[in-house]
Amino acid sequence: MVDRFPIAMREQLLVPGIDLRYEPDWLRADILPALAEVEVLVMNSKTYVDRELLDAAPKLKFLGRAGVGMDHFDLPCLAERGVQVVNTPGANAKSVGEQAVGMLICMLHHILKADSEVRNFQWLREENRGTELGDRTVGIIGFGNTGSSFARCLSGFGCRILAYDKYKSGYAPKGVEETSLGDIFENCDVLSIHIPLTEETNEWIDESFFNRFQQPIWFLNLARGPIAPLAGLIKSLDKGQVVAAGLDVLENEELGKLSQGERRQLENLFRRNNIVFTPHIGGWTHESQNRIYNWLVREILAYLKNRYQPSISTP
Ligand code: 3PG
Repeated sequence: MVDRFPIAMREQLLVPGIDLRYEPDWLRADILPALAEVEVLVMNSKTYVDRELLDAAPKLKFLGRAGVGMDHFDLPCLAERGVQVVNTPGANAKSVGEQAVGMLICMLHHILKADSEVRNFQWLREENRGTELGDRTVGIIGFGNTGSSFARCLSGFGCRILAYDKYKSGYAPKGVEETSLGDIFENCDVLSIHIPLTEETNEWIDESFFNRFQQPIWFLNLARGPIAPLAGLIKSLDKGQVVAAGLDVLENEELGKLSQGERRQLENLFRRNNIVFTPHIGGWTHESQNRIYNWLVREILAYLKNRYQPSISTP
């Protein structure tokens, strides 16, 4: 296990057949030389699981990902090597849905801006007049676990909810309108993206994408930073095409290792009071953590049980 996992989870894996090695502080350079005999690797997202790593792990059979996104995995290579990959889709959906609503309300009602003003002895009411969510049309791109959870969390606010999912049809529950991307551009004034980072979605949400909306939008990204690069977002904020943004993810989340350009972009955003930032904690609740860890323990134990089953031969 090469990320931080709680003792309660690790204890469940102290069973015959498992020689558990727990190295939460290891970096890639420590991990690679230690993989020669490893059959089960459990991790979060600290390093890429690419061809180089897999070459160093010839006996790897099971890769457990404590989380959902697998953009740091070379999935074709893992399949080629016959490695069983288990992530935990849906385990953090409730958290992401709740946090997306929280960030949206913060933007619409200027909560963070007003909070910092009051702390500076400024009591500005008119300047912080809010906008009601109930009168807005919210567009959700990607209607999987987190997109649908966000829609559920929105029910009760009275807003119109439009959903677009390129890979699904017939999915919309009551209260959600299944629609085209064109309809999202035409009707929505809030956009939240709930799609994985893939070759197809990388840098998809750029300035020209924002330009296609008929009206300025409030934008939420709790998915992955590279899907909506900051360069395009900054230009769209400058033009007023994006009214405000809630960002739980960034292109580079290692704030201690930013390039000069990345740093300048963030400083640009930090000067604005219409951006709500959180450090990739959309799915980071106590409850989602328990669901993720229980899920992985179950899967690891099931893998080991099956591995030890004698093969059944037919006469
Ligand atoms: C996920 O994909 O599970 C969440 O976005 C958290 O991602 P992380 O574990 O890579 O931080």
